[in-house]
Amino acid sequence: MKTARMAAFDFSEIPVLETARLRLRRISPSDCDDWLAVFQSPGAIDWLSDFEQVPRPAEILDIVEWSDAVFAAKTGIRWALTLKPGDRLIGSCGFHEYLPTHHYAEIGYELHSEYWRRGLMSEAVAAVMRFCFDRLSLHRLAADTTEGNAASAALLQKLGFSLEGVLRERVFWRGDHHNLWLFSLLEPEYRGLVEAGLLA
Ligand SMILES: CC(C)(COP(=O)(O)OP(=O)(O)OC[C@H]1O[C@@H](n2cnc3c(N)ncnc32)[C@H](O)[C@@H]1OP(=O)(O)O)[C@@H](O)C(=O)NCCC(=O)NCCS
Repeated sequence: MKTARMAAFDFSEIPVLETARLRLRRISPSDCDDWLAVFQSPGAIDWLSDFEQVPRPAEILDIVEWSDAVFAAKTGIRWALTLKPGDRLIGSCGFHEYLPTHHYAEIGYELHSEYWRRGLMSEAVAAVMRFCFDRLSLHRLAADTTEGNAASAALLQKLGFSLEGVLRERVFWRGDHHNLWLFSLLEPEYRGLVEAGLLA
């Protein structure tokens, strides 16, 4: 029988996470215009089944409020990604559906397309993974993505996640039912990647 590990993080405040090029910080209502620009950037919502179309400004405020609500409920953190030395939001990432009893959470992310393919989201998600496994003592981190989202699948596989299944026709979006790909990474696998120097 295993001893349940306790999370070291108490959700008293959203921590700042630093990577080589990025600062991950709390999202505020003053980020709405920049976050809208992320969703408006070419290709950004092509695979996001949460959006039928580019969200309206009022809907961005709802998403900011959602990010506060998940933190208040202690079920997640969504960070603003800012490119140092600036403070402008160029994307977001974080975890949600955190279930401390099961040592489980899911991750999500999106980046302004002007910044794609520079390794920035790999850097950000690696920082979120470190937070989840070290501070929340997670055992399993999961991610799902619309079938065909090659960029998201490549990112997850680069970071060591395994494709473990297909949720058949899990979402109804843009007039049709779509499959979701389900990925996961377990804590021992994460430690192995860190020890092998395969994560930033
Ligand atoms: C998915 C997303 C966050 C990736 O961000 P990014 O900063 O461009 O990713 P990285 O530069 O860190 O790339 C990670 C890996 O994925 C690969 N990759 C990135 N985009 C790719 C694409 N369009 N097709 C194939 N591979 C791709 C990269 O080559 C890299 O692998 P490598 O280092 O072995 O070459 C970005 O494309 C995005 O914001 N997409 C729209 C929102 C979205 O789909 N979010 C996910 C919802 S589940």
